Amino acid sequence: MNNINIAIDGPAGAGKSTIAKKIAAELDYIYIDTGAMYRAMALYFLRAGVQSSDEETISAKCGEIEIGIEYLCGVQHVFLNNEDVSGFIRTDEVGAYASACSVYSAVRTKLVELQRKLAANENVVMDGRDIASVVLPNADVKVYLTASVEERARRRYNEYVLSGQECDFDRIKQEIEERDYRDMHRDNSPLVCVEEATVVDSSDMTIDEVCEQIMNLAKVAAASKNSGI
Ligand code: DC
Repeated sequence: MNNINIAIDGPAGAGKSTIAKKIAAELDYIYIDTGAMYRAMALYFLRAGVQSSDEETISAKCGEIEIGIEYLCGVQHVFLNNEDVSGFIRTDEVGAYASACSVYSAVRTKLVELQRKLAANENVVMDGRDIASVVLPNADVKVYLTASVEERARRRYNEYVLSGQECDFDRIKQEIEERDYRDMHRDNSPLVCVEEATVVDSSDMTIDEVCEQIMNLAKVAAASKNSGI
């Protein structure tokens, strides 16, 4: 298949990373999880005891942070000032802080630059909120992957139950709604579905079905690139 870049945007819990990872593995592309980068920055500010509402301090501290990405056995690891923080960023606290601090220009400018650099010389499947709209506006395939709030909350609830953690469905649903609202309504690069994107609603689809649909889009994009259309 001819080389192409694939952008997958969508709200929290829609299954972006699961799908993007699987597609990248099938195509032998590099998977770039941009949310992990925002989470790593959030971890730095949390550890430094900075309030997520304190834009001035957060902006000033951006220069102290170096985010790196490495692939170990095919798995993306995120480094915060040379420390592998991959194991510390998957908490609700870090996710909520990442959503809050991602509204600031200093944070976004830093990470968008890094993301573009990573994609410049590679074939990538990149997931996030602003990939098709800002980071890779020329991506060959643009997918807006979504699912109903109920379904996303149910998936998150099941994950908690499986890992033996206590949780409350209504609270999870409310947190998802709040995160959606913040990610979609911020002034700076909000989550949007760009006109050219294919909307995939995964509420009633299996992972394999979603992958198949996106792989078909990738095949069509590669074929038209090959034929110079
Ligand atoms: O996808 P995630 O849950 O790991 O992302 C955490 C937060 O990071 C998300 O709520 C908003 C922010 N984010 C962003 O603003 N832009 C991206 N491209 C990716 C994530």
